[in-house]
Amino acid sequence: MEKKSFKPSTMLYPLPAVMASCGTMEESNIITIAWTGIICSDPPRTYISIAKQRYSHDIVENSGEFVINLTNADLARATDLCGCTTGARVDKFKEAGLTKAAADIVSCPMIAEAPVNLECRVFKVERLGSHDMYMADILAVHVNEDLLDENGRICLEKAGLIAYSHGFYYGLGSGDLGRFGWSVMKPKTKKRINREKAAKAGQKRK
Ligand SMILES: Cc1cc2nc3c(=O)[nH]c(=O)nc-3n(C[C@H](O)[C@H](O)[C@H](O)COP(=O)(O)O)c2cc1C
Repeated sequence: MEKKSFKPSTMLYPLPAVMASCGTMEESNIITIAWTGIICSDPPRTYISIAKQRYSHDIVENSGEFVINLTNADLARATDLCGCTTGARVDKFKEAGLTKAAADIVSCPMIAEAPVNLECRVFKVERLGSHDMYMADILAVHVNEDLLDENGRICLEKAGLIAYSHGFYYGLGSGDLGRFGWSVMKPKTKKRINREKAAKAGQKRK
């Protein structure tokens, strides 16, 4: 297949669409962020890149704290709203019908309706151009109890999370294409996993 070349751009997919809350319990804001990801496992570290003109930019710049709130299908409208309105004019918690919940460590509120919240504290800022990249330690993680199985394992696949790709939001759904490592899995392991799956399905039917 022939390829057509384009000028350099941010052509990567899919991306998360998270709501980052910042500020304080009294004076808070929410910004929708797609430029985010994990940059280190141990210690767990993440980043968000914020354009200089955003209202949230100076809040995160000055406080050095934010919360990453994962988004699901129920929060798709709020996610879009927080990405299309500015905290300079709108109280986004009120406008999007979201509830503030106190975090354990950082001063900014978490979004109670989000299935997962990551409390973050900035350790380094990179001035990249249009955006400043706030690299942060993940200090605490909060997960809705209904996402835990009987062994306490987090089942993120139950959260109905959404992703963003070039102007559209997509539900991740349950159509997984295989678990991590399936391409190199030993037949013995495959059999064991299938046995466990069948046993679980049997238990559910009872
Ligand atoms: C899906 C989506 C992803 C976005 N990702 C980013 C981002 O990564 N960085 C950024 O600075 N703005 C991003 N924006 C734009 C801001 O969310 C938007 O300008 C918002 O109104 C800023 O709010 P604020 O002025 O209250 O800070 C995104 C918007 C949407 C809808």
